[in-house]
Amino acid sequence: MNDFPSFLSALRPEVDEALDRLLPDAGTEPAEIHEAMRYSVFAGGKRVRPALVVLAGEAWGGSREDLLTGGAALEMVHTFSLIHDDLPALDDDDLRRGRPTLHRARGEAMAVLAGDALLNRAYEVLGREPASAPPERRLEAVRLVADAVGTAGMIGGQVFDLRHEGDLDGRAERSRPSAGALPGRLRRQRVRRPAHPEAVASLERIHRLKTGALIEASTRLGGVYAGAGPEGIEQLARIGAELGLLFQIGDDILDEVGSSEELGKTPGKDRQAGKLTYPGLFGLEGSRQKALQAADRCLALIDGLPARRDLFRALVAFLVHRGS
Ligand code: IPE
Ligand code: IPE
Ligand code: MG
Ligand code: MG
Ligand code: MG
Repeated sequence: MNDFPSFLSALRPEVDEALDRLLPDAGTEPAEIHEAMRYSVFAGGKRVRPALVVLAGEAWGGSREDLLTGGAALEMVHTFSLIHDDLPALDDDDLRRGRPTLHRARGEAMAVLAGDALLNRAYEVLGREPASAPPERRLEAVRLVADAVGTAGMIGGQVFDLRHEGDLDGRAERSRPSAGALPGRLRRQRVRRPAHPEAVASLERIHRLKTGALIEASTRLGGVYAGAGPEGIEQLARIGAELGLLFQIGDDILDEVGSSEELGKTPGKDRQAGKLTYPGLFGLEGSRQKALQAADRCLALIDGLPARRDLFRALVAFLVHRGS
């Protein structure tokens, strides 16, 4: 089975079973937060990050069971990042994974706390499981995920994303101090001129950090659990970094061309907020070209993997063509 959507749908019940086992029961007190955590986790995400942990680990002979606990922990981190990303103070979104966002459904306080609790639970799981793994491996897992989430990773990327909000025109004004924003607004052009190099560098940094860091952590984590060794882990990390860029270029494109039914979230929000995005700087066609270039770099790296090459290639094709 070498098409990625089939692999994802076959893996999904295993990922969901691990998440169900590793999250507190909805009825455990204080029940409202456990119910809120589960509301967002089980709303129907694609589970790309757990799939990457599994694929990367299996490329180096890791055990599926061990990889699923790490994958579930990363899905908790990812879901936390989405809950907070949607808050009114950040992207102010009403729809996520086809449902009202958590702050819409359960209030802002519960959304903030459920996000915190998911992040915390992820570290509990990474530190504790797999119980049979050598303690150094669990320590390395905690360390690498903490690096990927922190201010030099996803959270830092979110800060840069906010810093550059409003850099492109076409937004509804919002009052937010934009320290360090590029001088003046960059105009979306009908006839496209080469994008400003400073803006391109900022855009790449945002994407590498806000999305790339967790995707790179997913492939790294698989390598750590499988005992791939430093070189194997570095190779997986480079693949993860390219996949992360490809993933976020796709996310930016879908924000322009997707529908809320397909995406399970509201499209058009990036343009409205003047976010620094690939379509904003390079146009849709230019963004598709950038995605294909990242895909090519990724495919070249995948050739060097010891196994699971076909599924990794199928994943690249899925990310190039995805509609949600
Ligand atoms: C959305 O991630 C947020 C980004 C980092 C681009 P996904 O597209 O993986 O969202 P889910 O998990 O499928 O809902
Ligand atoms: C989200 O980027 C990145 C994180 C959640 C860390 P976006 O803001 O583009 O993600 P969506 O489009 O809301 O899913
Ligand atoms: Mg955002
Ligand atoms: Mg968002
Ligand atoms: Mg987006």
